[in-house]
Amino acid sequence: MIEEMLNKIDDKSYKIGIIGLGYVGLPLLWTFYQQGFTLTGIDVDQRKIDELEAGRTYIKHFRNEQIAEMMNSGKVSVTTEFASVKDVDAILMCVPTPLDHHREPDMSYVESTVESVSYYLQKGQLLVLESTTYPGTTDELIKPLAEKYSGLKAGEDFFLAYSPEREDPGNADFRTATIPKVVGGDGEDAQKLASALYSQAISEVVPVSSTRAAEATKLLENIFRSVNIALVNEMKVVFQKMDIDVYEVINAARTKPFGFMAFYPGPGLGGHCIPIDPFYLTWKAREYGINTRFIELAGEVNTAMPNFVIERTIQALNSKKKSVNGSRILCLGLAYKPDVDDMRESPTFEIMDLLSEYGAEVDFHDPYIPKITPTREYAHWTGKESTPWNKEVVSEYDAVVICTNHSDIDYDDLLNWQDCIVDTRNALKTLLNTTGQVWKA
Ligand SMILES: NC(=O)c1ccc[n+]([C@@H]2O[C@H](COP(=O)([O-])OP(=O)(O)OC[C@H]3O[C@@H](n4cnc5c(N)ncnc54)[C@H](O)[C@@H]3O)[C@@H](O)[C@H]2O)c1
Repeated sequence: MIEEMLNKIDDKSYKIGIIGLGYVGLPLLWTFYQQGFTLTGIDVDQRKIDELEAGRTYIKHFRNEQIAEMMNSGKVSVTTEFASVKDVDAILMCVPTPLDHHREPDMSYVESTVESVSYYLQKGQLLVLESTTYPGTTDELIKPLAEKYSGLKAGEDFFLAYSPEREDPGNADFRTATIPKVVGGDGEDAQKLASALYSQAISEVVPVSSTRAAEATKLLENIFRSVNIALVNEMKVVFQKMDIDVYEVINAARTKPFGFMAFYPGPGLGGHCIPIDPFYLTWKAREYGINTRFIELAGEVNTAMPNFVIERTIQALNSKKKSVNGSRILCLGLAYKPDVDDMRESPTFEIMDLLSEYGAEVDFHDPYIPKITPTREYAHWTGKESTPWNKEVVSEYDAVVICTNHSDIDYDDLLNWQDCIVDTRNALKTLLNTTGQVWKA
């Protein structure tokens, strides 16, 4: 059975189903399509299916022409129907793995996907999870669920693997096909199949000995980022009190050719990964009686950053003899990082909330987010529209807080239009407090 499947992968008659067509699933669909595979994309969100079928993108870094080309190729179909997994050879799952209200893993999307897929699971199929998760998910959660609902046996009738997604939306230097892919199989056959499949579309496959090792690899990568970002955020607060510009220091330190890697501070953590993923390990480690102190501390430092931004905004307004209460403040950039349209977990929300609590009237401008769509934690901002970006409008605010340094913004314009700017991203490349116009935060 394995030989037959490997041959199909080789001659590209192997059919692939991708479940969850978001920031991860859609680029994956495109990557395998480009290699000539036949694909089925499944998502529970009918609007996404409608957009794709109409040849339109809903992710900023894809062009409509790419989607239209893919959808008109005759090689790719999309649907909300899980029954179509019967006809594919591999099923790659890219569904959300958020935290619940108690900041514990919310595995409901993975569970419901595995359950839905398993009713249709066929002999010989390969099932791979790409979502970020805790070590043990494939072994302890997916395997028993898939076996229960399919009546088939993993490793004999069907094959299981885990391969974490390392997609970095908006990164011009790397795309899905050029980011090495870590693959851990549940047994040798699963490993062979999954590695062979990803090798067809991705420049380098990095095999590891188990699904647990692959799950842990992804968490280590994101915990590394979270801890290092916390470190530079702490340095920023300390150096600011000492009248030292943290960016100047980091840029000098990064000239050391070994033993230092530059991370940059910001207004807090955002996005679907770094603020969330580390706590998947924290949760799992508790089962082993271990506290993940670095993770907790990094979380604490990073989540305190919006308060630092508020403190600096208060100082900036004070210098103009104004208070936050009653001021009109524009937050520039709602996306959690530059040049993307993703506002999930964005610290701008927290900054807008805090400024409002202090009595400010708060607006935002983001070239990529015309209107705030519903979010779980910040539902009260739903429907708010991005403020126009021109001199008449921007100069009327009492202060502008740069929360995200989108490269489409002309920062010289901002310097001409506004005399009270709080810069949380070093977008203006000024030194600390040299002008009285710009306050670094
Ligand atoms: N966004 C990133 O940059 C990134 C990078 C690396 C890893 N990841 C991980 O990849 C996973 C997916 O993240 P994302 O950013 O693509 O999320 P996303 O929200 O953009 O996309 C997930 C998609 O899954 C769909 N979906 C939800 N439940 C479903 C179900 N039961 N069946 C079918 N479809 C379902 C949603 O409608 C959505 O379109 C997460 O575990 C995330 O941590 C994300």
